[in-house]
Amino acid sequence: MTTNDNNSAVRFLPECEDLGSLRTAAASCEGCGLYRDATQTVFGEGPDSARYLFVGEQPGDQEDRQGHPFVGPAGRVLDRGLEEAGIGRDEVYVTNAVKHFSFTSRGKRRIHQKPTAAEIDACRPWLSAELAAVRPEVVVVLGATAARSLLGPSFRVTRQRGEPVPMGDALAVATIHPSSVLRAPDRDAAYAGFLSDLRVAAGAAPHTR
Ligand code: URA
Repeated sequence: MTTNDNNSAVRFLPECEDLGSLRTAAASCEGCGLYRDATQTVFGEGPDSARYLFVGEQPGDQEDRQGHPFVGPAGRVLDRGLEEAGIGRDEVYVTNAVKHFSFTSRGKRRIHQKPTAAEIDACRPWLSAELAAVRPEVVVVLGATAARSLLGPSFRVTRQRGEPVPMGDALAVATIHPSSVLRAPDRDAAYAGFLSDLRVAAGAAPHTR
C-alpha cells in the first residue's frame, strides 16, 4: 500500500473482482470522505456482458435515495437518448465516476456539488474494476467528470465530443452530461447534439456479438 491508498478505494477492492463481489465491497467504501453524508454507495448496474458502458459523474439526489444510477431527471434524458439512438437497455451497463452523492445542504435541500479531482481519483479503482469486469466494446463518457476520470484532465468534451477514441480494447465516445441538456438555454438543440453523439456511439460497436 502506498501513502495515496489512504485516500483511495483501492484498499476496499475485493479479491474476486466480478460485478457482484465489487458491488458488495463498494457498499462499505470509505475511500474518500463522501460516504459520511451520502445515504449509500450507488454502484453501476447492467449486464456483465454489456456492449456499452456509460459513465456519468456521480449519483444525484434521487439516485442517492434509491440506490440506483440514473433514475432521476438526467436518467430520463439518458433513457430517451438510448431509445432514439437504437441502443437497447439490455446492452448497457450504467455507472458513475464517483459512487457517492456529493452535495451541500441549503435548508432541507441538498444541492449537487461537483466532485473534486481527489474524489474522482479516489473512486477510480471501482470504475477501472467495472471496465475490466464488463469489457465493453464502447464506453460512453457523459460529461467532464467522467472524461477527467477516463480520458485525463486535458480532454475537452466541448471540443472532442462525438469522436471515437481508443481506450484499451474499447472505443470511447464522449458527450455532454444529460443533466446539462436540462440546464441548456436551448434544450432541443442540446438534446439533438447529445443524440447525435449517442448515434456515433451506437455505430462504433462492431456488431459481432
Ligand atoms: N447524474 C449522474 O452523473 N449520474 C447519475 O446517476 C445521476 C445523475
